[in-house]
Amino acid sequence: MTKEVKAYKNLPKKVYIRTFGCQMNVRDSEVVKGLLLAEGYKLVDDDAAADVILYNTCSVRQHAEDKVWSQIGKHGNHPNNKIIGVIGCMAQNYKKEIFKRAPVVDIVCGPSNIDNIALYLGQALRSKEAVLGADEKKRKDNIYHTGFYEDKDHAYVVISEGCDNFCSYCVVPYVRGRLRHREHGKILKEVSDAVGQGVNSITLLGQNVSSYVDSGIDFTELLKMVSGIPGIKSLTFLTSHPKNTKQELFRIMAQTPVIKKQLHLPVQSGSDKVLKAMNRGYTVKKYIEMVDQYRGIVYNGKLSTDIIVGFPKETEKDFEKTLSLVREVRFDAAYIFKYSPRPNTKAAAYEDDVLPETKQRRHAELLKLQKEISRSKLEAQSVGR
Ligand code: SAH
Ligand code: SF4
Ligand code: F3S
Repeated sequence: MTKEVKAYKNLPKKVYIRTFGCQMNVRDSEVVKGLLLAEGYKLVDDDAAADVILYNTCSVRQHAEDKVWSQIGKHGNHPNNKIIGVIGCMAQNYKKEIFKRAPVVDIVCGPSNIDNIALYLGQALRSKEAVLGADEKKRKDNIYHTGFYEDKDHAYVVISEGCDNFCSYCVVPYVRGRLRHREHGKILKEVSDAVGQGVNSITLLGQNVSSYVDSGIDFTELLKMVSGIPGIKSLTFLTSHPKNTKQELFRIMAQTPVIKKQLHLPVQSGSDKVLKAMNRGYTVKKYIEMVDQYRGIVYNGKLSTDIIVGFPKETEKDFEKTLSLVREVRFDAAYIFKYSPRPNTKAAAYEDDVLPETKQRRHAELLKLQKEISRSKLEAQSVGR
């Protein structure tokens, strides 16, 4: 792990951060930027001008990791004059393996260690050693209070970290750790402070917001509290899980003008057999009932979803069930993914037996269907105006 001494002596250094993955990572990159700005670093938006390049990475699908490996590959095989850091989910997934596979990398920092990012950077800038931080600890809440948001009107606010759901295909519980909730008082303070600096639109973030609880405050209570903060014009949240989303949530959405009438409710498959093997904890029937409740309570509510095609043992019949679910529910938007096995997960032990060309065909077919539905819904909307 020994590296050449870097020719860095004096701060401030210029940092470029590139973000891959979900909104949680978008927020984490802001957190890192806020922490580094407080330490006197400068942010730049192109890698050529930077002394330090940090890749905030995603491990959710093979494809997501491939993109990062190819990006790192562009820096060559040997230590160079820039500090290169891999942070986030892939850092946690591979830990020191990253240094072996890509000796050009100086820092590997998992999601729970980003509170130490300035320390690691200082070390990497001064010493010969590659720096690794990949503990599974709770983050310090002060990292969320730097006041740095990319957007002047909108803020992502984390309410929970990690996930305990262990869907059989999903790497998130392994890279983000067990479920931890932020104290509601601290969430409210972050939101109030953001509003105080001009933000008027908030997105609350968690892998499953419906699981939120802190000192008897559940997610619906938290939503009511946040929506009551003066100055908020728009409030939304990501992601809801069908297994524990409650009617009460829909009522609060309907009753509270500032809450966007928009729900992201990932279904993943239209086959009960596949849902069971995915460990999702609901049936297609239960999902459809929930959608009916939502649409009955939240007038004109928008609905989006995630779907995986090509999960192990997904037959043509299973896939047809997904097609008919999509036809029946008529989502406003659907994010469709081809299954890829992820390390440590339960499904990684199953044979990845759906051929790549079959996954590709199912993906294309579903995408085409969803495009038609999205288009016709948009057209209907503009006619109704
Ligand atoms: N916590 C959220 C989002 C998790 S990741 C939720 O539960 O909905 C975002 C999406 O990536 C998932 O909803 C799923 O559709 C997809 N995904 C996760 N793991 C995958 C894998 N191994 N292969 C393909 N898609 C995957
Ligand atoms: Fe992954 Fe399931 Fe947790 Fe979502 S709820 S992050 S899909 S384990
Ligand atoms: Fe998000 Fe990817 Fe990590 S989806 S939680 S950045 S594995």
